[in-house]
This record gives sequence, structure tokens and C-alpha cells, in this order.
Amino acid sequence: MLYKSKKRNMGARQLLTLSIASSCLLMASCSNDNPAATVDDAELLTLVSAVGLTGDPTTDRTLPLVTDPKAKLGKKLFFSKGLGGNDDSACVTCHHPSLGGGDDLSLSIGVNATTTDLLGPGRMHDETKAFNDNNSEWDGGPPVPRNAPTTFNIALWDQAMFHDGRVESLGKTKGANGDDGKGIVTPDSDDFTTADPDAGDTLTAAQSRFPITSHEEMRGFKFATPGTNAELRTALEDKLIATGADGWPKHFAMAYSGNTEITHLKIAEAIGEYERSQVFVESPWKAYVEGDNTAISESAKRGATMFFSSIDNGGANCTSCHAGDFFTDEQFHVLATPQIGRGKGVGALGDDDFGRSEVSGNLVDKYKFRTPTLLNVEVTGPWGHAGAYTELENMVRHMLNPVDAIANYDMTQLDANAVLQFENMQANTQLALEQLQANRTNNVSGVHQNVEFTDADVDDLVAFLKALTDPCVKDRDCLAPWIAEGMGNGPDNLKQKAFDVNGDYL
Ligand code: HEC
Ligand code: HEC
Repeated sequence: MLYKSKKRNMGARQLLTLSIASSCLLMASCSNDNPAATVDDAELLTLVSAVGLTGDPTTDRTLPLVTDPKAKLGKKLFFSKGLGGNDDSACVTCHHPSLGGGDDLSLSIGVNATTTDLLGPGRMHDETKAFNDNNSEWDGGPPVPRNAPTTFNIALWDQAMFHDGRVESLGKTKGANGDDGKGIVTPDSDDFTTADPDAGDTLTAAQSRFPITSHEEMRGFKFATPGTNAELRTALEDKLIATGADGWPKHFAMAYSGNTEITHLKIAEAIGEYERSQVFVESPWKAYVEGDNTAISESAKRGATMFFSSIDNGGANCTSCHAGDFFTDEQFHVLATPQIGRGKGVGALGDDDFGRSEVSGNLVDKYKFRTPTLLNVEVTGPWGHAGAYTELENMVRHMLNPVDAIANYDMTQLDANAVLQFENMQANTQLALEQLQANRTNNVSGVHQNVEFTDADVDDLVAFLKALTDPCVKDRDCLAPWIAEGMGNGPDNLKQKAFDVNGDYL
């Protein structure tokens, strides 16, 4: 037992602190980040293994290398604006490896940007270009209603993709990434429980069939529209074929044993394999769990202790949702993170986002969003499904006590230049908080519980979360194999050039 007392305020964390503080008087090595407390590594590791962690989230998985032929083709596709209906938005526009596998924006901007190749802060929607089909209700803000999640470690999901899980494995077999022969439900499925026959093998491939169908993300408002998703995909195949013998067909042949045929299933498979090669799990935390007691700081160890301990034992029980080595239960929970942006067109004010219930059709799922992984979370901000938190510390405070965090929510943390919509933030978020309260009252399984905490606890939790970062994701040279370099302007002359607001290449 790490904590000897069940009473939070007189918990063992304090007792531990006191005893360590006195021994520090005798020990020179206590001049650490916080001389107050030292965590017993053996006890922490016992706690960690008791909740099922081994350190390595990739165990028993078949993962492609970025140098595999299909992944190489996928990288070229991922970086090509040619997959966009206006030739102005690529997958990488919102999922760049140098931007944590996301876009560093609260809410994404895809088509019709003022500067097509400018990624991250400073990417703006061009007011003179279409925002929706009839270009009505223009408000200047980002057209995409949710935050772009990271593509890093995407191969480790076994249950569902997207914040609301609308691409979902029916088998949910551990280690399979959906590839278990049981089928995958997608937005093209006849209903929420029927597999999409064209989903492809993995959740990752299935997901990659949808950004191109989104008008705001990639499709634009002119290409193959009106038209079904199937018609759109055929139009896209034709577009790639039309690049001619030295264009895309040649590159498909390199990945598919000389076969120049281009189909949408191949496009999705190749993109999926490239994404699945983005495995970044070599964190200090992994080294620690695997036996290197010096791999993480004392503060991170205290944070870990809180993260993995139950609330009764003075901890924060983060692991009840951020479970296992991938730090997610892949389930859906109400956390009521601030609802900024234009939302999904639901609710009394028309700009709310009900999350999972829109997919499951089940009211008990209202305001639930999928638990994100916390691997590399340091670099995947802004955080929350609408990207409303731009400091990791603020996100952690929300996880400890959502009501207090919303009451103290500071709008100035948002990028003032991004024209983010937040007029109805309080009203919409209040409804989600009420749902959270109702779920607590009704004892809905897995419901979030408040935690009492100090500022020092928050620092420790943040230090722990930062220990989940694979150093590679902060090192441009290490990321180079995943970035489309040295291939000129790409097979169709439409490679996303990807520079930041200062004009520096990402
Ligand atoms: C305009 C920005 C934008 C573009 C372009 C874009 N995405 Fe995304 N992506 C997002 C957003 C926003 C979400 C979250 C949407 C949701 O959950 O409803 C997302 C979700 C995802 C996810 C799910 C991640 C998870 O954790 O479940 C994957 C994988 C992904 N995108 C890959 C791609 C691929 C592949 C392409 C190109 C075919 C692409 N994206 C194009 C913004 C973008
Ligand atoms: C009841 C389940 C639950 C508990 C307990 C929980 N989380 Fe979360 N966490 C979530 C969900 C769900 C989200 C996504 C919320 C959203 O998208 O709006 C999330 C989001 C996060 C994020 C942002 C990740 C991102 O990519 O945007 C961080 C960081 C985080 N949690 C840390 C913690 C910490 C630290 C604790 C413990 C103090 C904790 N969580 C406790 C379910 C939980």
C-alpha cells in the first residue's frame, strides 16, 4: 500500500512527505526538483503492475515500418493536396509529424485557407472563399468543429476511431487494430451495428476513407458534389489515374508488385499503413516500468502515484479511464470539456456537440467522448475534443474537477487570431456538466468523480504526463523518415509544402 490512510487530507502522501522531509536533512541527494517527498520505486511499480501495465503498448502487434512499400506510398498520399477536391488540403495539413501528429490548432482549418501550405497557428480560412454549400452564416471561424487528434500510435487502437468512435471494430480484438475479420462499422454502414463491406482491414484504413468526404476538411464545395461517398471516391480514383504513367500509377506499382491499378481500397490501405508506422512509444516512463529507476523525475513518480492510485487511497484514479500501457480504455465518458467552435449543429443554440450519442443513438451516451491516449500528450495540444485547453496544466485541472475548471475557464488562453467561436461556450458546457452530475447521481458505470488536489499535485501530474513523451516526437531529425522530403513536389506536383507562420519548413 502506498497510502496508509483512507482519509484524503491526512493521507499517507502527507505522512510520506513528512518522513522523507526529515530524512532529507541527512541526505545530500534530496536537492531534487522537490525535496519534500521521495517515492518508493518498488511500491510504485507494484501499483503499476497491479493495474496491468507492462511498459510496452506494442506487445503482440504486427506493425509496419515506414520504409515498407505500402507505407511509402501512403506517405506520398498523406502529403498530397491532390486528395483534396480543390487541391488545397492534404491529410498532413491537419496531421503533421512536426506538430505532434496534429495541427497545433484548437479547431482545424482544411480547405479554402488563406495560405494553403501554411500549417499550425496562423492558418486561417479565407473569408472570400466558400465556407459551406451556399456560403451562408459565415462567421470567420474555423469550419471544422473538433480538434484534430494525433495520428501517432494510431495502430494501437483496437475499438474505435474519432472522438465519438464512429469508425468502430465489431470484434474489438486486443492487438488487432480492427483486423480480426469481424468487420468495421463506419459512417457508410447501413446502421450502427452493421459492418461496412468496403472498410478495409484495419480501423486506420477504414478511417482514412472519410476525411476526403468532408467538405470542410478536404472535399471542398465543388468537387464531385452533389454525390455519394462512393461516387466521390471514384472521382478521386479517376483524378489520380489522370496524372498519367509517370504520376500516381507508377507509385502504386512500386507498392503493389508492379500493378498500376488505382482503387480507393488501395489508397486507404496505403495511407493506413503509413499512419500505422507512426509508432512512438519509447518514453522515459516505458524505461522506468521496464526497470530503470532513474528514467523519470521524483515529481513524475509522485504524479504517477496519484495517477494510478484510487481516490479512496488519496490518488486521482486517472487510470480508471486512461487505462493500460496505451493510457485509454477506448470507452466514452462525460468530462464536459469546454464546448467551443461551431459544434455539430445540434442543441438549442445549434452549436453544441453531443459526442457519442449521435453515433450510438443512445441518450445515455450524450456528451460522452472517447478517452484519448496520453502517450506523447505533451506535444498533441490543444487538448479536449474542441481543443479548448491550450495548457496541459489546465487540462489536468479539468480532469480533477470539471465544474471548478469550467468556472475558472480563461478564454484568453485561446489563440486570439483564430476567430474561435465561444459565445455559447458557457451555456453548452453547462449542459454537459449537468449530464455529468446526472450520471453521478444515477451511478452510471465509469462516471468521473472529483478529486481533491493541491497545486503541487497538478505539477506532479504534468511531470508524469511529460514522461510519456517519446523524445523522437520532439526531434525533427528523428521524425524525418515520416516527413515527405526528397521527393520533389510529389507524384502529382501537389505535395503539401508545410511551413509555419514564419515560413520555416516543418
Ligand atoms: C482539416 C483538417 C483535417 C484533415 C485535412 C484531415 N484530418 Fe484527420 N482529423 C481531423 C479532425 C478534426 C479529426 C477528429 C474528427 C472527429 O473525431 O469527429 C480527425 C480525426 C482523424 C483520425 C482519428 C484519430 C483518432 O484518434 O481516432 C485519423 C486517424 C485521421 N484523422 C487521419 C486523417 C487522414 C488519413 C486524413 C487524410 C485522408 C486526414 N485525417 C485529414 C482533422 C483533419
Ligand atoms: C472518467 C474518465 C476519465 C478520468 C477519470 C480521467 N480522464 Fe482524462 N480524459 C477522459 C476523456 C473522455 C477525455 C477527452 C475529453 C474530451 O475530448 O473532451 C480526457 C482527456 C484528457 C486529456 C487531454 C488529452 C487530449 O489529447 O486532448 C488529458 C491530458 C487527461 N485526460 C489527463 C487525465 C488525468 C491526468 C486524469 C487524472 C487526474 C484524468 N485524465 C482522468 C477521461 C477521463
